[in-house]
Amino acid sequence: MADDSERKSELTIESTGRTDGPLIELWTGSADATRSVGRSLGSLVRQATFIGLTGPLGSGKTCFAQGLGDGLGLTTGMKSPSYIIVAEYPGFLPVYHIDLYRIEHVREVLEFGWEEYLSLGAVLIVEWPERASELLPASIILVGFFHDTPSRRRLRIEARGVEESRIVRDLGRLLRAREYDVGSAESPGRSEASP
Ligand SMILES: Nc1ncnc2c1ncn2[C@@H]1O[C@H](COP(=O)(O)OP(=O)(O)OP(=O)(O)O)[C@@H](O)[C@H]1O
Ligand SMILES: [Mg+2]
Repeated sequence: MADDSERKSELTIESTGRTDGPLIELWTGSADATRSVGRSLGSLVRQATFIGLTGPLGSGKTCFAQGLGDGLGLTTGMKSPSYIIVAEYPGFLPVYHIDLYRIEHVREVLEFGWEEYLSLGAVLIVEWPERASELLPASIILVGFFHDTPSRRRLRIEARGVEESRIVRDLGRLLRAREYDVGSAESPGRSEASP
């Protein structure tokens, strides 16, 4: 599929040998490639899962969340929830997209019902989870986004917890099985950083 081959050239998993463990580092060369990784991750989720997305403004968190929504089978496209803290999407599991950017004090997180959301048996996709760092669950998938060039992002995906680690390991397998460029390519981030 033309679309797939395009994505293939836009996604590089770092050749550190880390793709078998619950930690993956990769580069995406477009918003679509970032969405595609999110979609793959979403397709592996089978139960309530907390997915935190960290990184500066405009680094691709919402883009990735939209892919997650697709992978989770949501029929409604996910929008940026920035002006409302929580957006709910029905799916085979309920999905909540939460944006904590405007939270100034952890007290506000508790006030909007954080504990209840955690106990809903839902998939929680949380942008700016560091605003509630002391309230994060022990079992979690964290995706860090780093700007590289205007169109490239470095993603660091890590898991804590048994099911969360299974998901991230399977994601590494899934991306490799799609013959994304794994283990052979120079990392674009590094080669560019080199003089
Ligand atoms: N490789 C890439 N991956 C993701 N987004 C990219 C990439 N290249 C360019 N972009 C652009 O970067 C922007 C990312 O915006 P997005 O809303 O996803 O960021 P965000 O991290 O959610 O920001 P905020 O903290 O403001 O919510 C989009 O305009 C997207 O088109
Ligand atoms: Mg966002």
